[in-house]
Amino acid sequence: MKVIRSIDNMKQTVRDYQNEKKQIGFVPTMGFLHAGHLQLMKEAKKENDVVVASIFVNPLQFGPNEDFEKYPRDEQKDSLLAENVGVDVLFIPTADEMYPNPMLIQMALKERVDVLCGRSRPGHFDGVLTVVTKLFHIIHPDKAYFGLKDAQQVAVIDALIRDLNFPIELVGLPTIREVDGLAKSSRNVNLTEQERKEATWIYQGLQTGQQLIRNGEQNPTKIINGVTKTLEQKVSGKIDYVELLSYPSLEPVTSINQQVILATAVYFKQARLIDNLLLDEN
Ligand code: PAJ
Repeated sequence: MKVIRSIDNMKQTVRDYQNEKKQIGFVPTMGFLHAGHLQLMKEAKKENDVVVASIFVNPLQFGPNEDFEKYPRDEQKDSLLAENVGVDVLFIPTADEMYPNPMLIQMALKERVDVLCGRSRPGHFDGVLTVVTKLFHIIHPDKAYFGLKDAQQVAVIDALIRDLNFPIELVGLPTIREVDGLAKSSRNVNLTEQERKEATWIYQGLQTGQQLIRNGEQNPTKIINGVTKTLEQKVSGKIDYVELLSYPSLEPVTSINQQVILATAVYFKQARLIDNLLLDEN
């Protein structure tokens, strides 16, 4: 596996692959890799000739009071893990390499952003759009792999690819979980022991909502209240939101007659965790 840190080297390597007619699969990450990231890389390896993964903790997508500084990092371990699942190139640029000057262009989402994490984290998805656009231009992937754990991010990247005509196929893959159901996340290491125990209820809370739907409940407010009640009883963290929306358009629904997302975010002391279920019960 090659580790590349400069944009010029990365572009040259991509040109070489293109000359060899190799299909490129791309997995963008912020590192501290776990089984969720590795699933994306393994799938990319199956479906492409070469896999490029990136590790870049993108300052642009963190708010002023968010966890940019304490976002966990372990480049050495990440390199071993990526190599083991067959990644061909690991692109690890510095912030100076990616943003040598303050950006003169501001990307801004108009839709799919005033709900869920977009509402709680102003500017977050604009920062994601910016970095992913830059990475797409540097790496020219044929296919790009994202996890549905961040389902709003997938909806936003779907819009980016369509609106800006990127010749890239978007692949969204299911959420990988710990044995007790907690969605794998780089941020889970920032939970206390007690919070870690409680955090299993995030998934179970969402499942109580799914069960209500399966039992015939169609009223979004009642479903949301069911999930909120479970979370309030079982989790000491502060609930940021529990929402039920159409997916991927992320609009309010009055009944469950299409694919919907049931999603939540919970603030613990040192980590904000998110999870969701995509439900298509018809
Ligand atoms: P990061 O949080 O490192 O996640 C990288 C990719 O791994 C994302 O597509 C995310 O959805 C996926 N992922 C994370 N946890 C997962 C899980 N438990 N199961 C399945 N997939 C999972 O998302 C980002 O980085 C950044 O916003 C990025 C796209 C790299 C732009 O900076």
